[in-house]
Amino acid sequence: MTAPEKKEQDWKETVRSRFDSAAATYDGDGQAQRQIAAALAGQILPRLPRRPLRGLEIGCGTGFLTAALLPALPAGSQWLATDLSAAMVAACLSRVIPPDSITLTGAVMDGEAPPQTLPADLVVSSMAVQWFRDLPAGLRRLRRHLAPGGLLAVTTLGSGTFTEWRDLCRAAGVVPGTPPYPTADALRAALGPSATVLQSRQPLPFDRTEGFLRHLRGTGARTAAPGHPPLSAGQLRRVLRQRAGQPFTTAYDVLTVLWPAEKP
Ligand SMILES: C[S@@+](CC[C@H](N)C(=O)[O-])C[C@H]1O[C@@H](n2cnc3c(N)ncnc32)[C@H](O)[C@@H]1O
Repeated sequence: MTAPEKKEQDWKETVRSRFDSAAATYDGDGQAQRQIAAALAGQILPRLPRRPLRGLEIGCGTGFLTAALLPALPAGSQWLATDLSAAMVAACLSRVIPPDSITLTGAVMDGEAPPQTLPADLVVSSMAVQWFRDLPAGLRRLRRHLAPGGLLAVTTLGSGTFTEWRDLCRAAGVVPGTPPYPTADALRAALGPSATVLQSRQPLPFDRTEGFLRHLRGTGARTAAPGHPPLSAGQLRRVLRQRAGQPFTTAYDVLTVLWPAEKP
């Protein structure tokens, strides 16, 4: 393994272990994620075919999207809920009770490297693919799993995510560790005209600025961008000092990608 490959593996391992640790707190701290998953389900459901389908979910977490979709699937459908984190897959399977007519299975899987033999009519993911090292390449790879007539439907994060937090960091002389998310236009350009990219804002209001850090910890989403050292306790104190104890609102800039299978 080359040194860059080892670095990449170590970074992904950090991402995985933080989500593993957050499986028990995710539901309490992830209400914004729940709303984003519900909105994605609202986009997917009217587009579902009326025949039994094979669904593949990437980064299922504790199952917000799984739970929103499964009761509405046509009878006889099969759903494979996957995640990088084994604890998240276990949480999803213990929470989501599928209707009798639907088969739900789970698997630990890196969504950037799914086995090639996994055909699907629907590939979905909410708030997970922003952890891909190469988002357009990862989405293109997932789209190749679609059977004719299938749909890839995902939410991910755009460049306006946590703007207020990043401003606070810069004002304190600290380089924020927020990964570099794409603009909606950049993602459109990377995926091409057959993909639809919608943009929306999911506000994250906190009574106190410290609540933002608790949200990141509780949802497991606190791994800094690759190559970026985690902020030290001293740096965090400097950032927080500017607004300690005050209300703070930031937001997820949510990009929703709807990408039909390639025409045969
Ligand atoms: C913010 S949570 C979203 C979970 C769920 N989809 C939801 O809407 O609440 C992100 C999830 O993506 C998973 N994840 C991160 N990188 C991944 C990857 N490369 N492949 C599969 N899952 C990944 C994490 O383990 C975590 O469970």
